[in-house]
Amino acid sequence: MTEQVSLPIHERYSLKELNTLAVESEAEYFAEPADRASLLSALAYARNHNLDVKVLGGGSNLVMREAVSGLVIRYQNAKLRLIEESSDHVLVDVGAGYSWHQFVLDALKRDWFGLENLALIPGAVGAAPVQNIGAYGVEVEQFIERVEGLYLSDSSPFSLKAEQCEFAYRESIFKQSLDGKVLITNVIFRLSKKAAVNTTYAPLEERARQEGQPSPMTLANWVMEVRQSKLPDPSVLPNAGSFFKNPIILKTHFDALKEEYPNLPGYPVDALSSEGEKSVKIAAGWLIDQLGFKGRSMGLIKVHDLQALVLVNMGGQGSDVLAAAHEIKQAVRQHYGICLEQEPRIFS
Ligand code: EPU
Repeated sequence: MTEQVSLPIHERYSLKELNTLAVESEAEYFAEPADRASLLSALAYARNHNLDVKVLGGGSNLVMREAVSGLVIRYQNAKLRLIEESSDHVLVDVGAGYSWHQFVLDALKRDWFGLENLALIPGAVGAAPVQNIGAYGVEVEQFIERVEGLYLSDSSPFSLKAEQCEFAYRESIFKQSLDGKVLITNVIFRLSKKAAVNTTYAPLEERARQEGQPSPMTLANWVMEVRQSKLPDPSVLPNAGSFFKNPIILKTHFDALKEEYPNLPGYPVDALSSEGEKSVKIAAGWLIDQLGFKGRSMGLIKVHDLQALVLVNMGGQGSDVLAAAHEIKQAVRQHYGICLEQEPRIFS
């Protein structure tokens, strides 16, 4: 069958620069379409050659294997379009390839509010709904109107309203039933034109008490300072952010742990468990820290000096990262009886 391929399809392409853990990885095939027509032709190419499609965003929340089979597609569309404006809100359509942090800053510049607490999160807009990025008391689901994209199987379009995205803590339908089946092309956000800052995260609340209620831009700056004080810059120390989710455990379990570890940080969770019991989210970083892992090297992988949830790659492979994570998980399970869930996904 003849085909019209309007974009380069690279063979044996290095992905080392395209993952923030900076592990060596080679894609069997790689394409970087920047518009819908070339995206459609890349998808058609994969179908015609029986290649699995692997969707890559900013590469900041995954562990790459050394070899990635099939066609890796990195959709570069970085357009921003205002689609509705009223006196109190805007609806903005943002291309999946837009840098997340750039979008936060661009929204603030236009006086579109809400995303301040999510400043400086690495990655692309298209990946934000996948793990429902969250920080300092805010999750992106609060600002998503709908998510649009294409099914990989036949390039047919989908549009899911936020309620259909099954958002939860670091979770969505895109990590569950739609995992590996779709490519997100654009996300439609509903942002406020009225400034209303969220300073519920304790260190932000403390600063607001001392310096007064911040403007949204000031709050974004505070958030950037907190992040920079705790989290390593991936361009200096390669990492994938928090490597484990904060576990959600039953309140009865939390109360028992608290007897033994009075300083264990825990935050009540709104939703009840499937048995109708109260649950508490506990700080995985604290559990790991208490076990003495902070600053420790495991071969070429190091637990960050300032935040035990973050693994830093000092020249290892994806398999080294996973081995270090396994060691930490085992120690946490043995010591506290808690099973840590890995946050970054495996890309292979
Ligand atoms: N803590 C320690 N030692 C550590 C790390 C944390 O004792 O090494 C304690 C802290 O003192 C604090 C508690 O654990 O009492 C929570 O720590 P922190 O506020 O730093 O947040 P976190 O729970 O470790 C989560 C997110 C981060 C997000 C921050 C702020 C997850 C898995 N991580 O971290 O998200 O920036 O809250 O909201 O939910 C990411 O997902 O990549 C990420 C960085």
